[in-house]
Amino acid sequence: MKKDKPSILITGAAGFIGSALAIKLLEENNHVIGIDNINNYYSTSFKKERLSNIIKSPNSSKYWNFHKISIENKNQIFNIFEKYRPKIVVNLAAQAGVRYSLENPEAYIKSNLVGFFNILEACKSFDVENFIYASSSSVYGGNKKVPFKENDSSNHPISLYAATKRSNELMAHSYSHLYDIPSIGLRFFTVYGPWGRPDMAPMIFANAIMNQLPINIFNFGKMKRDFTYIDDVVESIKRCCFKPATVSNTFDKFDPENSCSFAKHRIFNVGNSKPVELEIFIELLEDALGKKAIKKYDELQKGDVISTLSDTSLLTKWIDFTPSTSIQDGILYFAKWFENYYEH
Ligand SMILES: NC(=O)c1ccc[n+]([C@@H]2O[C@H](COP(=O)([O-])OP(=O)(O)OC[C@H]3O[C@@H](n4cnc5c(N)ncnc54)[C@H](O)[C@@H]3O)[C@@H](O)[C@H]2O)c1
Repeated sequence: MKKDKPSILITGAAGFIGSALAIKLLEENNHVIGIDNINNYYSTSFKKERLSNIIKSPNSSKYWNFHKISIENKNQIFNIFEKYRPKIVVNLAAQAGVRYSLENPEAYIKSNLVGFFNILEACKSFDVENFIYASSSSVYGGNKKVPFKENDSSNHPISLYAATKRSNELMAHSYSHLYDIPSIGLRFFTVYGPWGRPDMAPMIFANAIMNQLPINIFNFGKMKRDFTYIDDVVESIKRCCFKPATVSNTFDKFDPENSCSFAKHRIFNVGNSKPVELEIFIELLEDALGKKAIKKYDELQKGDVISTLSDTSLLTKWIDFTPSTSIQDGILYFAKWFENYYEH
């Protein structure tokens, strides 16, 4: 008899990455449970549109369940785990954004620390077999050495957001060790694509270009980002869902961050490994949208990192996949979606 596929819980399912992951997993006949508090950090109607897209997915009536709850609410989280008994948990719910952590630090403590702790507790209590969670390239702080490797220093965060993400990695490591929960932390590098985050540069720039409004270009354009296309990120998470972390039996002293000799815990960069200068990114977007940007140069913002670049060799070794959508292709796909969305 065919064995049922394990059910997968996604937190932050109305978010950019969570909604795209849910659609992919549903397409492949997985039972997916989504939770999200649909907070108003950015447009709640945009988040609801993403949820409608999930519902349009052919398998959603059979395999999709959604609950509007917050990961800060331990009782509600435990009720969900009790009801669905997920074997795989992907924690994407978080207060995201570097700049907003200067304005509203409390939101980061609540979602990223208290909420994250509740998810860990639930994983412990309900025998979750594989825990995946979102970390961030921001944990590398102001590191100058590129590309960023998982065992580079990540103990000098330059924003509270980064500090919470690094804390998540340490918390997950301890739970993995104490309660034998296989866990993988994924350090995402600037994710972009259709249904992207309205608070991030690609969407802000596209909006400004379409409406002929000025674009603030920070650090006078001297910024580089390792932009990673959403489909590559989704594929990476999906593959990690089906390859839980193991203890490393060949403890590598050159790679202490990633291979632990006693905890089933791994950390992987998820990036495209090709940094793009901000001005080049804008030029590509201008070409794709057929309009010129109105540029306004400004100083570096507090908490911002000047340059990011990932080394993804550990990820490739683990899941036999390397994010590789070129920025040229990715921007074309994104711009096509944006124009359609903008017109409707
Ligand atoms: N997008 C990127 O470039 C990027 C880069 C690095 C790390 N990340 C991390 O990846 C994850 C997903 O990012 P995203 O871009 O999809 O962000 P997103 O803001 O679009 O999605 C996060 C979702 O979580 C929900 N949420 C927030 N706090 C919650 C809470 N307490 N309870 C329940 N739901 C809550 C939000 O409503 C939102 O829908 C986040 O953890 C983020 O920090 C993203």
